[in-house]
Amino acid sequence: LTGERYRVSRLPFSRVTAQDLNFFQQELPGRVVTDEEDLKSHNIDWLRTVRGNSKVLLRPQNTHEVSEILRYCNERNLAVTPQGGNTGLVGGSVPVFDEILISTALMDQVISFDDVSGALVCQAGCVLETLNQYLEGQGYTMPLDLGAKGSCHIGGNLATNAGGLRLLRYGSLRGTVLGLEAVLPDGSILNCLNSLRKDNTGYDLKQLFIGSEGTLGVITSVSILCPRKPSAVNVALLGCESFDRVLQVFTLCRDHLGEILSAFEFFDASCMKLVQKHLHLNNPLPANAFYVLIETSGSSTQHDEEKLNDFLVSAMDAGLTASGTVATDQSKIKSIWALRERITEALAHDGYVYKYDLSMPVDKLYALVEETRARLGSTAKTVVGYGHLGDGNLHLNVTAESHTDTVLAALEPFVYEWTAQHRGSISAEHGLGFKKKDHIYYSKSREAVQLMQKIKYMLDPKGIMNPYKTIPTADQ
Ligand code: FAD
Ligand code: MLT
Ligand code: ZN
Repeated sequence: LTGERYRVSRLPFSRVTAQDLNFFQQELPGRVVTDEEDLKSHNIDWLRTVRGNSKVLLRPQNTHEVSEILRYCNERNLAVTPQGGNTGLVGGSVPVFDEILISTALMDQVISFDDVSGALVCQAGCVLETLNQYLEGQGYTMPLDLGAKGSCHIGGNLATNAGGLRLLRYGSLRGTVLGLEAVLPDGSILNCLNSLRKDNTGYDLKQLFIGSEGTLGVITSVSILCPRKPSAVNVALLGCESFDRVLQVFTLCRDHLGEILSAFEFFDASCMKLVQKHLHLNNPLPANAFYVLIETSGSSTQHDEEKLNDFLVSAMDAGLTASGTVATDQSKIKSIWALRERITEALAHDGYVYKYDLSMPVDKLYALVEETRARLGSTAKTVVGYGHLGDGNLHLNVTAESHTDTVLAALEPFVYEWTAQHRGSISAEHGLGFKKKDHIYYSKSREAVQLMQKIKYMLDPKGIMNPYKTIPTADQ
């Protein structure tokens, strides 16, 4: 049980009664899930490492319904957990005990799209990939992309401030989100659903909800600025014999590809072995110590291909890459991207996954993987490093047959201390959720956390919104 493993006690929230269920049934006829089988997949996270025990999941269709639910839960002192696609990786999207699940799955409508400005307004439950397909039909694309695109919701993306594979090009959601609507714990509706690029009137309240992981309110609608769909996309996969070479390729790549560079990802030989072993993917290159995936996105095929070729010739002349392949057609592009995007899935097949998502100066990134590997020796099955190198973001992952205190003790606080010493962040893009909230002090000062606690108390005095997550409770 989650509660036992993490030694958390249930806070004194009310328990759901038959009368509560009656109220929910009246508000959401046919959209109140209480069947234990149906609840199972909502009570366990994507990694299958944390499990809750919610007895009820609510499926509102609009903002008004969310408002009615929260107003009632707040009055009754019932705790809730908002849930989008349940792809979060830090245990934030599942209840810890019997919190009521509020799913955005039926809030999946596009509200408007402005094909001049590129501003898309939609409900929070739209699936990222579906939005992208909708936009592609209009010559636009979403400014974010991640391996979980087929399941994650845009509301969940905002709530976690997801980074992903295109951040290097289009920046973070803190820049591309133009506005949002959220329902506060007391049921009031905060409408900040602007579609303006410029608006300096008072505090920028939407930023509070981006990355708040369901602890301040439920995001119900989103306005987001979408770029034009690039007409020319090229992908190159390069093999490098050392991490030093990977860094040199990055520098050269920025010099040569500058404005058309849209992704710079890296992964090590252990990752390649895992996607080959568990997913039967094909490595188009001879075995290398490291692999670099470079994507360019632009508006002129010929121009972009010339630039990419010049870059590749320079990289080879300088001896930075041992081998490489380039893809311009959709199916090859997809199969190269799969090698990188599906590492998360391959790791999940390998065993229990200890997952770390760190940002730090790029020249330090891989030293941590090597030290961790040496430190764990044969207690780990696999230790891998991959990530968004262009953003200084390392995913250090360790697999073992099962969760053990011995492996955990070898990893923590070592990984966090190492990261803090290099002035890095212990959660670059996944958030803190349930698993990492107590480690916030490695990356934030006491004063900063205290201010977060005051903001939380002001918006959610009863603490009903996603309790036990993201920030330590004020009395700790
Ligand atoms: P959920 O998992 O359902 O919820 C996540 C958190 O947000 C929870 O705390 C939940 O309570 C809260 N929440 C959800 N919806 C709302 C809402 N409407 N209002 C308020 N709170 C809400 N992350 C990255 O940053 N970059 C990546 O490249 C990346 N790749 C991934 C690849 C895979 C294969 C997987 C499984 C995950 C990946 N992730 C990545 C993790 C990422 O956080 C999520 O995939 C995504 O952003 C979460 O969206 P979701 O709808 O699944 O949210
Ligand atoms: C990724 O970059 O693949 C995601 O953040 C998921 C992960 O860290 O495994
Ligand atoms: Zn990532």
